[in-house]
Amino acid sequence: MKRLKVLTVALAILLVPALVQARVSGPCADCHTMHNSQGGADVVAGGPFKALTKGGCVQCHTGTNTGNSTTIYNSIPYVLDTTAPTYNFDGSKNTLAGGNFYWVQNGNDAAGHNVAGVANADASLSTPPGFVTTYGRSSWPSGQQVTCAGTYGCHGDPSKADDFAAISGAHHADDSVIDGSTVGKSFRFLLGIKGTEDSDWEYTVSSSDHNGYYAVDYQTTGTVDTASINYLCAECHGNFHSQSSVGSGSSPWLRHPTDFDMNSVSTKEYGNYPNPTLFTSVSTTGEYFPDVPVGNTAGAVKSTVLQAAGDAIVLCISCHRAHGSPYADLLRWDYSTCTASTQNAQCGCFACHTSK
Ligand code: HEC
Ligand code: HEC
Ligand code: HEC
Ligand code: HEC
Ligand code: HEC
Repeated sequence: MKRLKVLTVALAILLVPALVQARVSGPCADCHTMHNSQGGADVVAGGPFKALTKGGCVQCHTGTNTGNSTTIYNSIPYVLDTTAPTYNFDGSKNTLAGGNFYWVQNGNDAAGHNVAGVANADASLSTPPGFVTTYGRSSWPSGQQVTCAGTYGCHGDPSKADDFAAISGAHHADDSVIDGSTVGKSFRFLLGIKGTEDSDWEYTVSSSDHNGYYAVDYQTTGTVDTASINYLCAECHGNFHSQSSVGSGSSPWLRHPTDFDMNSVSTKEYGNYPNPTLFTSVSTTGEYFPDVPVGNTAGAVKSTVLQAAGDAIVLCISCHRAHGSPYADLLRWDYSTCTASTQNAQCGCFACHTSK
């Protein structure tokens, strides 16, 4: 009887689904140093750092992703590598969903956001292309570089100027619910943005193992949704998103549409997304192609799309990687290989424009 009880308890524990929590864990000393001094010597070079951490945002998030969670800081998502990452479109990578800053740090200005502390200022750009003041940033000072977080950054609370002030507490926050209400409860600490966070930031990735991007179909709602992943980009590049400057809501467009549901044009070439006869990592029509992702109105992880209204929405990041890529305009693929009538599997445009 007693044995059975023990067994039942053991089974119950085994059957409880693993709590996937993105908040940090591990010894305080892995990540913090109280005085940055041990035996009179610095604990971390270049310190002390804010929030008593053993490195700023950049230092902590620099490394090579191995998928191995036994690194000193538990499992850190690395967004800057010191050696060239593996990056094959429609193939293997050791970069994460946002891409990597390696290429922009190593002299290719157009291959990434020139984030302060990561890369020098972009030689030709300072104000974000398409910047408008109506999307959450009131001005962009001349010469200002993008920062990781804060007023001129992507992560954290833009009402706080400093990176660490903007993100304060987020690493320790309970993020089991991503509703955008606080920095910690926002998709990847992007304040106000909703979605579903893949537990390894898409280190391992497939049609069923990926982030869930929240987006809306502007044609149906007629309003801009500040919780969509497209709004995040629009905060600095608003003119490329605002409907009046993109078009009248249907073809012919003025700028490439986003917040646009491909279900409404699925009788055209878009119904054959992701073009499985061309790309090797997908095998059927309607399969989610993580290298050319689409969003949905639930911000959910869907392995099959084009099944119901609102499940195949074009995103800024259908074409771009937020941090950087090996290619111009931080594109997911090399746009210079895109040639009409001779489709090739190195050009992601063909995932949606399946008959061009
Ligand atoms: C002491 C090291 C350290 C420092 C400093 C640090 N981070 Fe992190 N960061 C981590 C770790 C560890 C994780 C992974 C937490 C987890 O398990 O999901 C993480 C996760 C993240 C994530 C992903 C959150 C998610 O939802 O998965 C973002 C975004 C991030 N950090 C941004 C920043 C920014 C911006 C700064 C600077 C203001 C910063 N980090 C400073 C260690 C650090
Ligand atoms: C906090 C403001 C901010 C946000 C948010 C932002 N960007 Fe940018 N972006 C900039 C600035 C500033 C530049 C110009 C300087 C540079 O390249 O860093 C830029 C440049 C770019 C470029 C051109 C790169 C080049 O060097 O030619 C692309 C493409 C781009 N952003 C795409 C995006 C996408 C996609 C998103 C959303 C995932 C996004 N941006 C979010 C500020 C931002
Ligand atoms: C895996 C890395 C990691 C571990 C382990 C860790 N922290 Fe942190 N902690 C951070 C990072 C990164 C920040 C700064 C960014 C932020 O606030 O999200 C931070 C911020 C803080 C802050 C200021 C923000 C807040 O939440 O009030 C306190 C206090 C703090 N940590 C205490 C601790 C204590 C105490 C421990 C051990 C019980 C610990 N931390 C373990 C990474 C870690
Ligand atoms: C995630 C899917 C997707 C990807 C990737 C994509 N497009 Fe599109 N594109 C669309 C949709 C949907 C439309 C709107 C079609 C409509 O309204 O009939 C569109 C519209 C266009 C238009 C305007 C057509 C018109 O009728 O006004 C052009 C041109 C275009 N795309 C070119 C490209 C190029 C070049 C690339 C690669 C850099 C690309 N697209 C990548 C989905 C995509
Ligand atoms: C269909 C693919 C596609 C989508 C979707 C897309 N872009 Fe782009 N983007 C490109 C391409 C290709 C370029 C290269 C320049 C061009 O063709 O106009 C580019 C260039 C840019 C640039 C650089 C402009 C410059 O002056 O250097 C920015 C910034 C940018 N995109 C932001 C965005 C934002 C923000 C969104 C969403 C609102 C978005 N993009 C959606 C493909 C796309």
